[in-house]
Amino acid sequence: MAKNKLKLFDAFAGYGGASWGLKKAGIPHEVVGYSEIDKFAIGLYELNHKGIKNFGDITKIKPENLPDFDFFTGGFPCQTFSSIGHGKGELDPRGTLFYDIIRICEVKKPKFILLENVKGLTTNSHRPTFEKIIKELKRIGYNVQWKILNSKDYGIPQNRERVWIFATTKEIPLGWHFEPKKEPLKKFFKDLLEENPDKSYYLKQYQTKRLREVTGVDFKVKEPSCFDRYNKQIRKDGICMTISPSYHNIMRVVEIKTNGHDKVRKMTPKEHYRFMGFEDDEIDLNGFSYSQLCNCAGNGWDVNLVSKIMKKIYELN
Ligand SMILES: C[S@@+](CC[C@H](N)C(=O)[O-])C[C@H]1O[C@@H](n2cnc3c(N)ncnc32)[C@H](O)[C@@H]1O
Repeated sequence: MAKNKLKLFDAFAGYGGASWGLKKAGIPHEVVGYSEIDKFAIGLYELNHKGIKNFGDITKIKPENLPDFDFFTGGFPCQTFSSIGHGKGELDPRGTLFYDIIRICEVKKPKFILLENVKGLTTNSHRPTFEKIIKELKRIGYNVQWKILNSKDYGIPQNRERVWIFATTKEIPLGWHFEPKKEPLKKFFKDLLEENPDKSYYLKQYQTKRLREVTGVDFKVKEPSCFDRYNKQIRKDGICMTISPSYHNIMRVVEIKTNGHDKVRKMTPKEHYRFMGFEDDEIDLNGFSYSQLCNCAGNGWDVNLVSKIMKKIYELN
């Protein structure tokens, strides 16, 4: 029997990770609306997903004013739960946006809900908030599963651990889980780098010298590698550290020295998006600054992993 087209409401949309995931998975769908407040994320979303209505600030949305949908997605803002942020959790108003998800889903009752946040939401002091989230979803009538997934286990060489929460009004068949099957990496850090990045991305020699002095790291590598400035280490596992918004930008690419000179550079926007699961030219990045693009990538969903999660969820449709 032919399956119905999924009607998606893409909340906290960013560049539209959920829409990209469905598209990449080849799942028939229609995006009935999205919710986003960041000017640049909206710009990037609209450039790539034409003619979809933005319902704006989720805290102001009246569920009755939304069109019907059967899939609600949302990577609700994670700053307050991330180990990089200040860790204020629910004390920060941004930590309470989850309640708007509940408020909307309680009325609209979509068949499926997919939420994402940083792994930190499940640990230590944030655990009670996490448990409250699961409890609230159950209270409004959902069967719930959750799992921490890492992008590097699904084909993209990025260490990106995120907690994914799936909720459905349907019965979950025994033994079924939305977690996609893990697969060994076929491509590594070096394979996702551009061949000839623009010279402007390279640090000057006095800058690499300073970086060497400050971090105590010798930029000697056998192959292009990821340098984590925060932890003062060059990754040797061929995997990219977690891509984060550029205000936390602590990531560099270290290339093989030429004539004894260090070659250290920033990652290009194109590379950022490759590490977020995009093929070249799949997403239009024109007209945005380096930091706007990197912020959206750092906040975004790994669309390769999302497409695999979407395929699993579609099994239940
Ligand atoms: C972690 S990002 C989600 C990224 C998205 N999943 C993607 O694939 O790009 C959270 C997003 O929520 C947006 N946001 C924050 N507060 C919001 C609000 N009150 N209403 C709607 N969106 C909001 C932020 O601007 C940010 O783009």
